Amino acid sequence: MSTREYSIAVIPGDGIGGEVTHEAIRVLQALKECYGFSLRLTHYPFGADHYLKTKETLPDAALDEMRQMNAIYLGAIGDPRVETGLLERAIIAGVRFKLDLYVNLRPVKLYSEQFCPLKDKTPKDIDLVVVRENTEDAYTGIGGIFKQDTEDEIAIATMIYTHKGVERVIRYAFDFAKRSGRRKVTLVDKANAVRAQDIWTRIFARVAQKYPEIQTDHMYIDAACMWLIKNPEWFDVAVMPNIFGDIFTDLGAMVQGGLGIAASGNLHPGRVSMFEPIHGSAPKYKGQGVANPLAAINAGQMLLDYVGEREAAATLEKAIAVLLTSGRIRSLSAGVHRTSEIGDLVIDEVRRLAGSKKDEG
Ligand code: IPM
Ligand code: MN
Repeated sequence: MSTREYSIAVIPGDGIGGEVTHEAIRVLQALKECYGFSLRLTHYPFGADHYLKTKETLPDAALDEMRQMNAIYLGAIGDPRVETGLLERAIIAGVRFKLDLYVNLRPVKLYSEQFCPLKDKTPKDIDLVVVRENTEDAYTGIGGIFKQDTEDEIAIATMIYTHKGVERVIRYAFDFAKRSGRRKVTLVDKANAVRAQDIWTRIFARVAQKYPEIQTDHMYIDAACMWLIKNPEWFDVAVMPNIFGDIFTDLGAMVQGGLGIAASGNLHPGRVSMFEPIHGSAPKYKGQGVANPLAAINAGQMLLDYVGEREAAATLEKAIAVLLTSGRIRSLSAGVHRTSEIGDLVIDEVRRLAGSKKDEG
């Protein structure tokens, strides 16, 4: 029996979450056959239906179970029947905060020129990784609303940055750059206007000294958005506060072809971590079988890499690249291919690549 067994919590969630998760899991099952590892999947029903039925979002008992597992796979959360952001904060942000998943790793990679909205940019120009801080900033919920709906209303949300929080994510960015053979880490902040973010500038400079082989760069977030469109090739690894990372990576997703391909890993190195597509639950496509599952499948790719199945992860990445460059997957938008058709194409390609590797000996 295989000793490489991974226990994975699966939260398909809302909207198209179920459909895209189904394909991602099918792809993982196919890889498991090719590479001889095994998966112990535990499905959790969290999301809108479960909440409307039980008033429960993310119970502590489930989190305790997940803490013992290797990884969490999340489809998508959010439903118009539930108060704005309630489920997203409780479940997505809930897992991030409660499991202290302090890195949100978001690769921005263009597989094929035809998917890029930027003129004259090719795959060699667009290959960066955003390291988004994932446990602080304006996301902690510190603040509130006073005298709501009166002329005296006050709304406060506090952006917090701790020495520990900033240092560990910057250190991760440099370690990641070193480990993956990347040349440069760019700090993105807004320390000219928001002086509290000077903590980022200072800690970055200090950490950078320990990595003399890695080049550094510094941009303010407004300029970084501009340069990502004008000169995306300037970026390699970019590290930034939570809310800037949220915004910057939607822009990044567009540059690589859209939300149909962009995935992310919420990591606490050495501990259980969570993988999800960047897109939301897209309720209008729910149940139609037209959502593009590639972002979800890519999240599965990151999961495999994280748990240590590097070869399987590399094969999956290659399969996606082959399908996109050969034009067999023609579009990253919803509605062009059936959801299951993309799953089938990826599985066939994975089997072909894994098989031919075996033949090589
Ligand atoms: C994301 C999402 C979340 C975020 C929301 C749903 C809380 O937009 O993962 O990028 O802002 O982090
Ligand atoms: Mn977002």
